[in-house]
Amino acid sequence: MAEETKPSTAPVEGVPAPAEKAHKPAAAAAPAKPAEAAPAKPTVAKAGSKQTLTQPLQEKESGNIWMTRRNFLSRAGWAAFFSFVGTMLLGSLRFMFPRVLFEPSTVFKAGFPGDYPIGAVSTRWIKDYRTWIVRNEQGFYAIFAQCTHLGCTPRWLDAEGKFKCPCHGSGFTMEAINFEGPAPRPLERVQITLAEDGQLLIDTSIRFREETGQWSNPNAFLNYA
Ligand code: FES
Repeated sequence: MAEETKPSTAPVEGVPAPAEKAHKPAAAAAPAKPAEAAPAKPTVAKAGSKQTLTQPLQEKESGNIWMTRRNFLSRAGWAAFFSFVGTMLLGSLRFMFPRVLFEPSTVFKAGFPGDYPIGAVSTRWIKDYRTWIVRNEQGFYAIFAQCTHLGCTPRWLDAEGKFKCPCHGSGFTMEAINFEGPAPRPLERVQITLAEDGQLLIDTSIRFREETGQWSNPNAFLNYA
């Protein structure tokens, strides 16, 4: 009988020896027991955890998208409500500060009589009070600088000794009498008196018209000889 040849365990030159197993089980492998399923613990979502961050996605995936839309519509509704209330409050506050046009006073002191040379027209108060002050031998009178045609502001032309309206050419004498152009009547004079401190006191809200005889009013001319 031929001898059976056993596989040789001797290392063969050039062929690495099979590595021995690092370790062997110390004991015979016991039949694996199925691990007892631990009772599921309720998990609590922590702030900032992945569970919290992914919750809207889960809701969306679970078909709870209507809650998200409802929240959005609720917030939009509140925003519109507060905008409306804010607008109403602002409107109410606006009523507490009415638009008032602060115009300069119609009464002003125009300095002392000695400040005005005889025979001259002072244009010093035109810009602020639209008024000329004229000094003659007998005293003072003040003229309101508003053309009696359509209301433009005439200019005093010292070289020509007259008031001239730039709009349509009306002319007025130094006494305010209309003598050329379309102006239908003289310029109006305003009240001029002396204040307690001796200054000229002008009130442009009180006017005097020549054609109605008002220039003879004591307050239309200040005697100061
Ligand atoms: S407004 Fe002065 S002339 Fe017409």
